Amino acid sequence: MKIAMLGSGFIARFYADTLHAQRRKDQIELVYSRTEENAKRFAKDYGLSHYSSNLHEAINHPETEVVVIALPNHQHEEAVLACAAAGKPVLCTKPLGRNAKEAKVMLNAVEKAGIFAGYLEDLCYTPKFLKTVKSVADGGLGKILWTKSREAHPGPHSDWFWDKSLSGGGAIIDLGCHCVEIGRNFIGKNVKPVEVMCWADTQVHPIDAEDHAIGLVKYANGAIGQFEVSWTFRGGMDLRDEVMGTEGTVWLNSFLRTGFEMFTTSKGGGYVAEKAESDAGWLFPVGDEAHELGYPHMFTDMFEAMEKGREPLETFYDGYVVNAILDAAFKSASSRQWEVVELEDWRGDTNSEKLSGHHSYDDEHWLIKKETLPNGDKKVILKHKTTGKVNQIVERG
Ligand SMILES: NC(=O)c1ccc[n+]([C@@H]2O[C@H](COP(=O)([O-])OP(=O)(O)OC[C@H]3O[C@@H](n4cnc5c(N)ncnc54)[C@H](O)[C@@H]3O)[C@@H](O)[C@H]2O)c1
Repeated sequence: MKIAMLGSGFIARFYADTLHAQRRKDQIELVYSRTEENAKRFAKDYGLSHYSSNLHEAINHPETEVVVIALPNHQHEEAVLACAAAGKPVLCTKPLGRNAKEAKVMLNAVEKAGIFAGYLEDLCYTPKFLKTVKSVADGGLGKILWTKSREAHPGPHSDWFWDKSLSGGGAIIDLGCHCVEIGRNFIGKNVKPVEVMCWADTQVHPIDAEDHAIGLVKYANGAIGQFEVSWTFRGGMDLRDEVMGTEGTVWLNSFLRTGFEMFTTSKGGGYVAEKAESDAGWLFPVGDEAHELGYPHMFTDMFEAMEKGREPLETFYDGYVVNAILDAAFKSASSRQWEVVELEDWRGDTNSEKLSGHHSYDDEHWLIKKETLPNGDKKVILKHKTTGKVNQIVERG
């Protein structure tokens, strides 16, 4: 397909590097940027036939078959509405909106126009993540009880991120959107997020938005999704996830110290990896950043979904749910209470079964715990099903 890229900044280049690598067939044909100079430079760097400094002209261009939105957060709504009006399929970067209200307007517009719409949530497409989601779906971890997703780095690379009125918030909106959607994928997208408790503060930077936050998302089945986000972390980009179920656990480390370590006195200098803070000493480069961050699998899913007339793994509806959870996080950070996730449009289960990991030991007892001790003894801790009495049996080793 022929792609119109809206934006020529950081993520537009990551997307272009992905789309034009490895002999992929869906190619960028046209770029829009605010200034003609930037549009021209991007077009030259990627060998594009057209460039424009007019958003609507780019979307409506006869060569444009699909639009990729790589613009700052406050520009997403206008661009999505323009795609809906033009009837052009659209892929929008994260977060979908600055809040759920904006996201819902975008969701309604694409559904009314009947156009394909995909939510570009790359971190839900990393190879490690996709494999973990499969293990979870196959029951390898049992019932999912808790997830934790952490994204922390020294702060973003452009002015608009730091201006709350343009971005919609600080680390919560910028990084929390990834973490929340990672948690939803593990816990189950059909399970309703019900409440959020969040601590947020501005610990370091002279900004109105939060630069550090920790939150808990409570789901209807009792599962908990934890997020940790920061623009105050020093030492690179820390991307780690954990998922724990009744039968197992997975720990994922996606970016720092993943097996490629290098020392240099920095005679060469230059770029090491996203948000790396140094180009000397011991460094942690990343072999193929786009791949480690999920971009190739993400675009493959998007274009295949379009071709086959199915939904992509990450939809505008997912983007809307994420925004609704983050709205509750902002509310909780200021009220210091659990806040309800307001979802006027909920499409998942309405009656989620509560999590329970009870196992029978025999007809009369529940098994609480079984453990082999250092001396070889085996202890079995039981609860009587009717009296509720807890007792233990020791099998001598
Ligand atoms: N992992 C990811 O998926 C990921 C990573 C980084 C950024 N993003 C998202 O991508 C979007 C863009 O972020 P970025 O890092 O590329 O930012 P950036 O500042 O590097 O680039 C933004 C682009 O939009 C243009 N722009 C800025 N203000 C504009 C305006 N008012 N009108 C029109 N164009 C304007 C800039 O000139 C630039 O071309 C954001 O929504 C951000 O959250 C996603």
